[in-house]
Amino acid sequence: MKIYSVALNLHDQNTYDGVYHNQRERHTRFKHNLPYYADAYAHQSDILNTNDYRLNKEFVKEYWKKKDDVLAFTWTQGGIRMMRDQIDKEFLDFTPKKLFDYVMKDNVYYIDHHQSHATYAFLNSGFNISDIVAIDGIGAKFRCIFVDKDKNIKDLSKELPLGWLWNQMSKLTGFGSLGASKLMGLVGYGSYNQYYYDVFETIISGDIKEKKYDIHNLINIEKYGLESLAFTLQKFTIDKIKEHIYPLKSCDNLCLAGGVAYNGYMNEEFTKHYNNVFIPPAVGDEGQAIGVYQHADYVLNNNIHKSETFAGTDYEYKGDEKVDYTEIAQSIADGKIIGWFQGKSESGNRALGNRSILADPRNPKIKSIINDTIKLREDFRPFAPAVLEEHYKEYFDTNSPSPYMSRICKVKTDKVPGITHVDNTARIQTVNKQFNEKFYNIINEFYKITGIPMLLNTSFNCQEPIVETPEEAIRTFKKTSLDLLVINDYVVRKW
Ligand SMILES: [Fe+2]
Repeated sequence: MKIYSVALNLHDQNTYDGVYHNQRERHTRFKHNLPYYADAYAHQSDILNTNDYRLNKEFVKEYWKKKDDVLAFTWTQGGIRMMRDQIDKEFLDFTPKKLFDYVMKDNVYYIDHHQSHATYAFLNSGFNISDIVAIDGIGAKFRCIFVDKDKNIKDLSKELPLGWLWNQMSKLTGFGSLGASKLMGLVGYGSYNQYYYDVFETIISGDIKEKKYDIHNLINIEKYGLESLAFTLQKFTIDKIKEHIYPLKSCDNLCLAGGVAYNGYMNEEFTKHYNNVFIPPAVGDEGQAIGVYQHADYVLNNNIHKSETFAGTDYEYKGDEKVDYTEIAQSIADGKIIGWFQGKSESGNRALGNRSILADPRNPKIKSIINDTIKLREDFRPFAPAVLEEHYKEYFDTNSPSPYMSRICKVKTDKVPGITHVDNTARIQTVNKQFNEKFYNIINEFYKITGIPMLLNTSFNCQEPIVETPEEAIRTFKKTSLDLLVINDYVVRKW
């Protein structure tokens, strides 16, 4: 049976047909495809409106279509606010007990939001059996589930509403509802604070609902500081995970997904408790359509579908000047900053070598230069390294490859200050030839010139979602201080 899947999300709406992963934000050019949380993107406040459901409505109108193929879907609280009456009660009431539970009516297939996160991680992992943690702010019926090796679902929403807590603290600290990753950037600057720890304990012991918590404004950030709030929240997160997840361990494999699985400190911690930890690239709601497709394909067609990391559109581009990798690598070593656009775009929030900005990790000033002149974002935010897989252990204290930039670990050298965060960590991406040959080759050329087998790799964007088309790449190239642009096999210069 042919399947087509749709994620009726509050944010990051997306669809998938087994090949093409259609992440709406990349095309509408609104981050998270969410126009109404203006507070998260103050710089866009002239075009965002807090009560604007336009993009949500447009998405439903265009993609919520029943046809001959199986229509597979998930929904989230808020995502179906404008169309609840179009969804069968059986779907609205469904609460799964096992990972592969589902509901199907008239060619419409439904699973819970957290089942989709869990399935996306598990079926892409290649593990035969696995523990799975799916954890985020809110889905349909859960905030966190644990799935054991026998596929039983345990609801940990009360014990671990950590995504919700990060969102609340992110809002409170001025980073907006979806600004948890920014808040995480401050962790390294802070220190432990018992006051905050007690506050978090109190908050999560109470009743939690999706509404404004004005009482959180009473938290004394002025006295104890933003940085220590972030540090303590990170420690609290790891402590709670250890307390509630570790005793449930049923095998040596672990899969992680849900927005909280973008927390690289937490992910690294899990590698100390499980032999094998798998975290796929699109762990947030932007991967929902893939997970629900995989679930339906597994149940209905008895097929294990693995999704591609690069599942966007392939754009034609023909320039005047062919790219020379040695020359580009030399330019980076000479201090130039490069826009790097190749083939299909990545699924997920991380640039993994097809829509990247590349720079020299040896340069201690590079972080400020990129934050100030290209990304136009807060100066405290760190940049990640993409390191050749065969060399990562020489530079980073971690025990397994990290192909999707999902773990934060200690840096073992002082040779790469450009990618070393203030707490001496980095969120590493390990690259091998099979994963992305062109990306491997450009890092390898830089290695041959400098002896350093890595590049600074950050997403190719300026105050927008990651660039999708060559035209958007050129527009961003022209409006920022990027020095050179590579599109597929061609170089684009400014003059
Ligand atoms: Fe989610």
